Amino acid sequence: MAGLMTLSRYNLQRRREYEGATGDFTLLISHLALACKIVSREVARAGLLDVLGKTGDQNVQGEQVTKLDVLSNELLIEVLSDLPMVAAVASEEDEQIRITRAGRLTGRYLVCFDPLDGSSNIDVNVTIGTIFSIRKRQTVGAEATTEDFLRAGSEQVAAGYCVYGSSTVFVYSTGDGVDGFTLDPNVGEFVLSHPGMRIPDATTCWSANVGNTRNWLPTTLAFVDKLTSGQGRYAKCSLRYVGTLVADVHRNILQGGVFFYPDDKKSPLGKLRLLYEAHPLAYLVEQAGGKATDGHRRILDIVPDGLHTRVPLVIGNGPDVDLYSALAAAA
Ligand code: AHG
Ligand code: MN
Ligand code: MN
Repeated sequence: MAGLMTLSRYNLQRRREYEGATGDFTLLISHLALACKIVSREVARAGLLDVLGKTGDQNVQGEQVTKLDVLSNELLIEVLSDLPMVAAVASEEDEQIRITRAGRLTGRYLVCFDPLDGSSNIDVNVTIGTIFSIRKRQTVGAEATTEDFLRAGSEQVAAGYCVYGSSTVFVYSTGDGVDGFTLDPNVGEFVLSHPGMRIPDATTCWSANVGNTRNWLPTTLAFVDKLTSGQGRYAKCSLRYVGTLVADVHRNILQGGVFFYPDDKKSPLGKLRLLYEAHPLAYLVEQAGGKATDGHRRILDIVPDGLHTRVPLVIGNGPDVDLYSALAAAA
C-alpha cells in the first residue's frame, strides 16, 4: 500500500497544499474518475453486451450516435448530477446544457465533456476516450445558463481525459502540471504512473487525416511539406493517426508530436468542438509545455459563440504549432 499512489490519495495529499480547500474539487475529480472507470468496463465488454453499433439517431452535430456514446453520456450526467458542487453540465451529445439535481442553485462548477471521443473506432476495438473540462461559474445562487459556459478556455480550472486503450489511463491538470494515472484493474483504482507529464522537445510524429488532402488550404499543404521534408527537426518524423483525437494527443504528449484538424475548403471551421475537445486538450498540452492554435489565435483565448462551436485545431510541440501560425500569417 505504501507505494501505491492512487488518484484519491494523491488528491488528498495535494489538497493539503491548498489552504482553505473545501474538498469539493477533490470529490468532483474522483467522481469523474469513477464515471471513467465504469465507461472503461463497458468498453471492455462491449462486444458481449450488445452495446456495439449505432442507435440510428443523429446527435446535435448531425453525426450518427453509437450506443456507447449514449451510455457514456447518461452515465457522466448521472454521476455529476448528485454532486452539490456542480451546477450544470454541457455535453457534446446534447443540444442544451443540463442543470444538475444537487447543485443547481449553489454549485460553483460547470463541467463540459465529450463522453466518448473517437466514436468511429468503437466497433473495431481501437482506442477511444472521454474528455472533460471544468470551469467555475461567475454567478452562484440561480440556475446556470448557456452563457455561463461561453467563456474563454483560459478560465478552465481543470481539464482531463481518460483513454481506453491497451490500458485505461486518466490524465488531468488543475493548472499545476499534468499527471497521468493507470487503472489497476485488480485494485479498481487509478494509480499514479505518469507524474509531471512534459511533451518531449523532439517531434517524432505528426497526425492528421491525410484523406482530406484534396480539401486542404495552402497553409496546411505547406506545413505538411515541412513535416515530410526530412530536414531539421523533421529529420525523422512519422505519420501516426489513430482517428481518436484524445488518443492522438495522448501519444503526442508522451512522445512529442503535432496533431492538426484544420479548416479546409469543405469545412471553414474544421471538425472539432471548442468546448468539449479543443479547450480541454489545449489546457493540458499547454500545461505539458506545448501549444495549441486555430492558426491565428491561441485556442485558450477563444470564446465560443455557441455550445457546439467548432474550431480548427493545431496542437502539440510549441515549435510546430508556431510554424503553422507563421505559415498561416504569411498566407
Ligand atoms: P467524436 O467521436 O467525439 O465525434 O470525435 C471524433 C473526432 C476526433 O476524435 C477525431 O480526431 C476525428 O473526429 C476524426 O475525424 P476523421 O474521421 O474525419 O479523421
Ligand atoms: Mn470527440
Ligand atoms: Mn464524442
